Amino acid sequence: METTNLPMLQGLLGRHSLGIKYLAEPGPDPAQLLTMTQAALRAPDHAGLVPFRFKVVRGAQREALAELFAQAARDAGKDEAGAALDAERARRAPVTVALVARIDMGHPLVPAHEQWAAVGGALANFLNAAHALGFAGKMLSGAKARHPRIVAAFCAPGETLVGWVALGTATRQVAARGDKLAPEQVTTLWSGPTGRGFTPTSADAQ
Ligand SMILES: Cc1cc2nc3c(=O)[nH]c(=O)nc-3n(C[C@H](O)[C@H](O)[C@H](O)COP(=O)(O)O)c2cc1C
Repeated sequence: METTNLPMLQGLLGRHSLGIKYLAEPGPDPAQLLTMTQAALRAPDHAGLVPFRFKVVRGAQREALAELFAQAARDAGKDEAGAALDAERARRAPVTVALVARIDMGHPLVPAHEQWAAVGGALANFLNAAHALGFAGKMLSGAKARHPRIVAAFCAPGETLVGWVALGTATRQVAARGDKLAPEQVTTLWSGPTGRGFTPTSADAQ
């Protein structure tokens, strides 16, 4: 029997992203990362395809990622100062976790959009679990997530590099930005296929 879990709900309502410059050591340790992955695996996933993988960048590997970021920046026409700035993005977060999607475009039962929904659910659960464990972070992508050399460094053929989750301990208060829609704007009563012939009543709202 399900029971209410208000602390969990409070956690979900209180998660906000925090940029890399406000992240410091420690980041999640390997056991905590596996717990976060377990949470990702609890997301809805039609036919249990698990259309995602996580790749953890930590410790010395951050330098290799920094070099890739710098190279992508140069290829995009940035000068050395710009390349150094992008490289710093890989060094700064204690732990960076790449999110790789593996969408089976020809699956007989589960269309691509359902698999992408599973990827998004996994990401949300992963981030919420990080928050529950006391860490802050942010999902990031940008043009470099589509840079061929970076894609090849994380993905097998046919896979998509969605981006990276930067993780660490918050050095400042994590606060809401207040730019989200109100829930009433997102959830409304369906008024039937013609848009008529259905009158919402308080009983319907229960
Ligand atoms: C797949 C994906 C990629 C994203 N890439 C970026 C990005 O490159 N830069 C950025 O500032 N925010 C990016 N975001 C948005 C942030 O992760 C974050 O959700 C947003 O700033 C809203 O903050 P909140 O999570 O506190 O609501 C991305 C989100 C998703 C789901």
